[in-house]
Order: sequence, then C-alpha cells, then structure tokens
Amino acid sequence: MANITTAPRGTQDIITTESYKWQFIEKMALENAALFGFKEMRTPTFEQMSLFKRSVGDDTDVVQKEMYEVRAEKGKDLYGLKPEGTAGIVRSVIQNNLLKGALPLKTCYVTSCFRHERPQAGRLREFHQFGVELFGPGSPSADVEVILVAKNLFDMLGLKNISLNINSIGCPECRKDYHAALKAYFEQYKDKLCPTCLERLDKNPMRILDCKSPVCSEIAKGAPVVTDYLCDECKEHFDGVKARLKALNISFEVNPKIVRGLDYYTKTVFEFISTDLGAQATVCGGGRYDGLVEQLGGDPTKALGFAVGLERLLLIMDAQGVTIPTPEVCDLYIASIGEDASIKACELTNMLRAEGFYIECDLMDRGVKAQMKYANKIGAKYSMVIGDSELESKKARLKDMTSGEEIEVALDESLTKKLYDITLSGQINKLTDEASADGLYELFAKGFNK
Ligand code: HAM
Repeated sequence: MANITTAPRGTQDIITTESYKWQFIEKMALENAALFGFKEMRTPTFEQMSLFKRSVGDDTDVVQKEMYEVRAEKGKDLYGLKPEGTAGIVRSVIQNNLLKGALPLKTCYVTSCFRHERPQAGRLREFHQFGVELFGPGSPSADVEVILVAKNLFDMLGLKNISLNINSIGCPECRKDYHAALKAYFEQYKDKLCPTCLERLDKNPMRILDCKSPVCSEIAKGAPVVTDYLCDECKEHFDGVKARLKALNISFEVNPKIVRGLDYYTKTVFEFISTDLGAQATVCGGGRYDGLVEQLGGDPTKALGFAVGLERLLLIMDAQGVTIPTPEVCDLYIASIGEDASIKACELTNMLRAEGFYIECDLMDRGVKAQMKYANKIGAKYSMVIGDSELESKKARLKDMTSGEEIEVALDESLTKKLYDITLSGQINKLTDEASADGLYELFAKGFNK
C-alpha cells in the first residue's frame, strides 16, 4: 500500500519556501494578459466527462488514456478532472451568455490540470497551466495578438532561447482531402500500428500523428503533411499570420509536423519550444478552434488561445538563472520576558501590523535566547526585547540584526514612525537627518507604499 505521507506519483507539493515563485509567475502572467485586456475566469476542477469527449476529442490520447474519472455515486453522472483549461472555459462562456456581451471576449486563467501520463522531468500528472482564450475574431491579427501575449510573458520574464513554431491544420473542408491522404498512407502499415491507432485509422487518422508509441511515431514521420492540403481560405489566413509576424519582427518557423494532441483545433496552431526542457520541450501550445463553441451548443463563434505549462516555465527560469524576487522578510521581531511583556509584545505587534509592517512575536512560550535564535533563523531585520525594566521605562532597544547597532525607542505609537524611518533609510546609523526622515514619513502618510 502507498505510504500516506508520500504525495501521489506525478504530483508535487508547492511548499512554503517555493510558493513565492508561483505567486510571482502567476502575477506576471495575469498582469501581462491584463495589458492585452484579458480578464481572469475560474471554472470547476471537474466537468462532465462528455464535455471533454466532445471538445478535447474521443480519439485523443488525453481522453482515451489519460483522464482521471470522478464518480460521486455509483451509476450516476461520470465526471473527469480537467486535463486542460479550454473546455471548461468554453462551457462556462456558453452557460453564462458571455458571447452576448462585447466581442472580442478575452478570458484568461490559472488552473490545475490532470493527465495520467508517465511522469518525467517536466511531465506531471497534476500540473498547472496559465492560459488565455479569445472569442469572436477570425482575423489573422487575432492569431498574432494571442501569440504576442505568450511571447510578451517570456520576454517580461527575461527568458532566452524560446522559439516559436507555427502551422496551419486547416478547416473541416480542407481536412477531408488530408484525412483521405493520411488514411491511404497509414493503411500500408496496418499490421504495424498499435491497436489504438488502428481504431483511429477510419475515424480520425490525424490522431495517429501524435501517438506516443515508438513504432507509430516512426511511421508517422513519412506521413503526408497538412499544409499541402489547405484550401484557399486557410492558405490566405495562414499567409496573413506569417506576414504579421514578419512585420512585427517575431521570428518563427513553420513546422508542418505540428498537429497538436487535441481535436478541437482549426487553422493556425503554434508551440513555443525551449532548449532548456529536455524531452518535454514545449512550454506553450495553442491555436484556433473556430468550431468548438458551436460544437458545444453555443452560437457559431470563432475562438483561439494557448496554455503555458507553469512547471515547465519555472524549469526554464531555473535553468537560465532568472532571479525571482524573494518574499518579504520580517521587519521586526519583538521578544518578551514574562507574561506582562508578552501581552505588551502582542499589543505592539498588532499596532505595527496595522501599519503594514511584517512583525512577529513569541507564540511558543520560549525563553529569550530561543526567541532570538528564531528571529535570526527567519532573517528578521530588527529585533527588540521587552522585559520588566522596558515595561517600567516604556522604552526598549531596537537592534539592527545585521550591523548589531541599537537605538532607544519609546514603546508607544511613536514606534510606528521610528520603524518607517529606519526601514526606509535602510539601517539605524543612516538615521542622522531627522528632517529627511520626517519627509519620508509624510510620504507614507500620503499613501506611498512601503
Ligand atoms: P497542451 O499543449 O495540451 O494544450 O498543453 C499546454 C501546455 O501545458 C504544454 O505546452 C505544456 O507546457 C503543459 N503540459 C501539458 N501536459 C503536461 C504535463 N503532463 N505535465 C506538465 N506540463 C504539461 C492545451 O492544454 C490547450 N488547452 C491549449 C490551448 C488553449 N489551446 C487553445 N487554447
């Protein structure tokens, strides 16, 4: 039996010393998307299984092999944990009549996703995506806008060596001829294809192209490419996308082998690939899905989007040594000796927190030595000790934990101003010019953020 203190295979905890990195990339992703007008949506972690079958596709590996099924009661509706973010967003957009509002509708999300894949570096069973979904426009400009959202995020984070690969997989019209060509090609290898791909041969031969079995993927290398079968409209659209990317000086490569692993795509598809990810090199995948809204019961509406894998994004940042701002450290640790001092420490702590400082005091009923050890461990910038004599004199010594320097401070409201002054000026010994410190305090009083 699995050890209950071990997280399920293919999942990972984001612990206290790591969470700031996640807060940072999620904030950057959402703020960047907001610059383009994308607003966040949150949809359930599980949806009807049939939603995924009809959107991601019955014949895809994701639905056939990787879904986590959820059944609350025997014999009742079958649900699935979301393997990706698009299906739930499209369902929600239809259900909430969002397409009746202003178009284009620009949505974005951060979500957990679940796929029962073989775990390896950059491939998990629970992973996280940041994605955007844009509803309404059919123009090539919209494709480029969506690509730009992803590219801007990578640029904002200072990432290097991420290349853009694009392709067009056409519309249902031009795909008829392509399917026929694929079928004819794969039929020659009928005796070698895996059982799943044999089933796909008649129904959905494009799915054979992204089968992960080594034999099928070797055979797929010689298959006809979709770009040779595009209709005039799809060709023109793709030319429009390429022309705009060129005009914007965005380098890209046309890779006719990109077909994506999900069924809903039409026309433009794209992937951002990193050289820092090893086998799982795709950090972002997306494209158009002009038929999906209608297919799920909404009014015919063109749409497109992408999703970035956040674990992979962090792997790249780590490999490239991108610095992530470290979390706030404790401004002041207030140590206390005795019950009355502990009450005073509690009072001062809360007074200073109300002013926006990060303050800690003893919660473990420890001796002063152990309290100071803790203050050191958490890297507190300043400390003070309150005991009987401090309570009596209503004064204490505020210690700069780096330089060891101390100043005397009053244990009343004036402590707030003192702390503003020293945290802003950096350290105690810089506090020579009271006038300028007063100026800084004024700045705070006017709402300047610490
Ligand atoms: P996808 O290519 O299946 O597309 O996934 C998008 C990204 O999620 C991948 O490029 C990768 O970074 C990350 N990812 C996928 N599977 C895993 C995994 N097992 N472990 C870690 N990361 C993973 C979609 O999901 C589409 N919904 C994207 C989209 C949005 N298309 C249009 N709108």
